Amino acid sequence: MAQTTPETTLANGLAMPLIGLGVYRSSPEETVTAVSAALATGYRLIDTAAAYRNEAEVGKALRQSTVGRNEVFLVTKLWISDYGYDEALHGFDRSMKKLGVDGVDLYLMHQPMPNEWERTVAAWKAVGRLYEEGRTKAIGVSNFSSELLTDLIERTGIVPHVNQVELHPFFTQPDLRATHQKLGIATQAWSPIGGVMRYVTDNPDAAPSPLSHPVVTGLAAKHGKTAAQVILRWHLQHGFCAIPKSVNPKRIAENFAVFDFALTDAEMASIDALDTGVRSGPNPADIDTRKYPLRIED
Ligand SMILES: NC(=O)c1ccc[n+]([C@@H]2O[C@H](COP(=O)([O-])OP(=O)(O)OC[C@H]3O[C@@H](n4cnc5c(N)ncnc54)[C@H](OP(=O)(O)O)[C@@H]3O)[C@@H](O)[C@H]2O)c1
Repeated sequence: MAQTTPETTLANGLAMPLIGLGVYRSSPEETVTAVSAALATGYRLIDTAAAYRNEAEVGKALRQSTVGRNEVFLVTKLWISDYGYDEALHGFDRSMKKLGVDGVDLYLMHQPMPNEWERTVAAWKAVGRLYEEGRTKAIGVSNFSSELLTDLIERTGIVPHVNQVELHPFFTQPDLRATHQKLGIATQAWSPIGGVMRYVTDNPDAAPSPLSHPVVTGLAAKHGKTAAQVILRWHLQHGFCAIPKSVNPKRIAENFAVFDFALTDAEMASIDALDTGVRSGPNPADIDTRKYPLRIED
């Protein structure tokens, strides 16, 4: 029998698995294989986005699986070219069509756009409507700072259930996490094992991968686990929802085999202490449709 994933409970009472599969930079062909392998392994959360251009393949793998749609926590995201009220509603419909589903479990706004804030706020109001209409069971944002979260909520009265942000041992976002706690927002960690450091080079100060840090490799040797498993266990014990990406069935299974050991408080603290305060991904304050001109095709 497949292992059950530990879950967190969102502010609206919805249970969200704490480990899921991410499919950013997974090609369409790889996506079908990866999602199929993940579901067979026991994963019950899949994280995609309109901008990943593989929603159709995620949907295909879900339909091919013996795991029922209602057993899978499906996450997708609205891309910035679809911000604005009517545009967001259209973007959601387009994603549902590509995925081949009526609704999702969590719908996220992919990025804040401080330079196009009115469109961002309008899109969030549309996402709130989708939630009211029951087309998504929970709603959230991604890459929002404390300040932008506060302003978004003040402007709309709609509190996100989730904020999906860069979070790994080298960038642990303690201040943002405190804001999440205060507002009742669940923390979802992208690049949970530091994958962003391999593909983004726009920050020369970014540290090398946490997978090769001696604290992590030392704990891996001590527990008879891999570095990735130690880091994912650290996420789990913090209560973060981690969505590691892999297209390799062996690593997909490895990343899920994290429920049979525990880190001590001192071990958790030793990983917490690796924080550099330096993000590797793009600064969310800089994102707008001019710098990121990608448009999503119907
Ligand atoms: N909201 C956002 O703005 C945002 C931004 C980035 C990512 N995300 C989401 O977060 C997910 C994960 O983030 P990410 O892909 O940036 O980084 P990640 O999951 O931390 O790392 C993925 C990288 O690590 C490799 N890998 C996977 N498992 C491994 C293991 N056990 N040992 C060694 N290497 C391993 C993968 O290669 P293989 O595939 O070859 O195994 C891939 O190169 C994405 O897929 C996406 O769903 C969201």
